[in-house]
Amino acid sequence: MEETLILNISQLLAFPGLDEPRRGRDLNSVGMIRDAAVLIKEGLILAAGPREVVLKRTSPEKCRIIDAEGRVVLPGFVDSHTHPVFAAPRILDFERRLEGKSYSEIASLGGGILSTVDLVRKSSEENLAGFLRKWSRKFLESGTTTLEAKSGYGLDWENERKILRVLSQVGKEGPLEIVSTFLGAHAIPAEIKDRREIYIRRLIDEMIPQVARENLARFSDVFCEEGYFSKEESREIFKASQKAGLGLKIHAEQLSQSGGAKLAVEFEALSADHLDHIGDADIRALARSRVIASLVPGSNYFLSKPYPPARKLIDSGVAVALASDFNPGTCPCWDMRIVLSIACTQMKMKIEEALSAAIVNGAFAAGLGKTHGSLQAGKVADLVCHEAEDYREIPYYFGQSPVLWTMKKGKIVFHR
Ligand code: NIG
Ligand code: FE
Repeated sequence: MEETLILNISQLLAFPGLDEPRRGRDLNSVGMIRDAAVLIKEGLILAAGPREVVLKRTSPEKCRIIDAEGRVVLPGFVDSHTHPVFAAPRILDFERRLEGKSYSEIASLGGGILSTVDLVRKSSEENLAGFLRKWSRKFLESGTTTLEAKSGYGLDWENERKILRVLSQVGKEGPLEIVSTFLGAHAIPAEIKDRREIYIRRLIDEMIPQVARENLARFSDVFCEEGYFSKEESREIFKASQKAGLGLKIHAEQLSQSGGAKLAVEFEALSADHLDHIGDADIRALARSRVIASLVPGSNYFLSKPYPPARKLIDSGVAVALASDFNPGTCPCWDMRIVLSIACTQMKMKIEEALSAAIVNGAFAAGLGKTHGSLQAGKVADLVCHEAEDYREIPYYFGQSPVLWTMKKGKIVFHR
């Protein structure tokens, strides 16, 4: 098979070196190489480094050449927290929020998660797959090459399974790669809202084991929050998920201090996400653990809510990742470049920290850190060429820093 050689890269960010999520000062080291080249074969990186070093590994005549024209090349973003299977935007929720109503008030007025559940239940698998294909192109056009994606808008077996099948179908078609998470514990469905224990038993005894048996998801997630799932209920859901062999994720401390972060540490979950209301003791506990703190500041922006304490988390030694949280209720934005900008301007993350969090730590938070998120020999060739000569332009020209092309597994899948 032919080799591909990318030449004329002004700055290549390689994120080399570590086999675990980055924390503390390591978040600053992006591994920038000037005048770089990348050699690719069969979808994998053969070499990435200074041009003269890479050229020793091959002869350009036998390669397909891609000229990066003096632009910046980075690994694709790994967006490690999304809810992309839904059937319609929630504009009414948006308008109510502009009138000053809160997320919980809007939910009790008939909006919120359950309104999306209504529409998803009425949509066919094919219809939902059509929507997801549309989003998947948008992710690729903005430089995201891999997605963690959650169910959670079905809330019964038939519909949760439908969503997970859509994710697996569209992921198989590619080129966007999708890792699925079961989020049956997203809300109590309306039809049994006064009998929550029935739904929780269904999750634990039937749905979670069945998700694992049918290999429909790699991770299990729970929305640990007042009005959704309490810490004790989340614990039971974690136990069942662990028993079924699913990795653990949690929506923690999003709207209040709910105890989710402590639970994540106790169960050694892969990630605890949101963390808007996290306290100092929990930050210390996270820092001592292997749990990744996935921050999703696009949702804080969209809900006009205070941001999670990114600086404190990083300075305390927590492994921080950044993700979009793309969903119709709290973050209708799929673009990780905007997330980077918000992380820098609103949470005071350094540009390098934000990029590491969105790429290499994103890969670990999606369970793919060994193969994705950095450019070393043997890793997948997921690369994005940004229209910038300096990587710092990406969050700087916020919302206006175009992607020139996106490569997934060695193939150009989007070109401007
Ligand atoms: O991550 N918090 C729970 N889930 C989503 C919102 C879902 C929705 O509002 O539809 C989140 O913010
Ligand atoms: Fe979420």
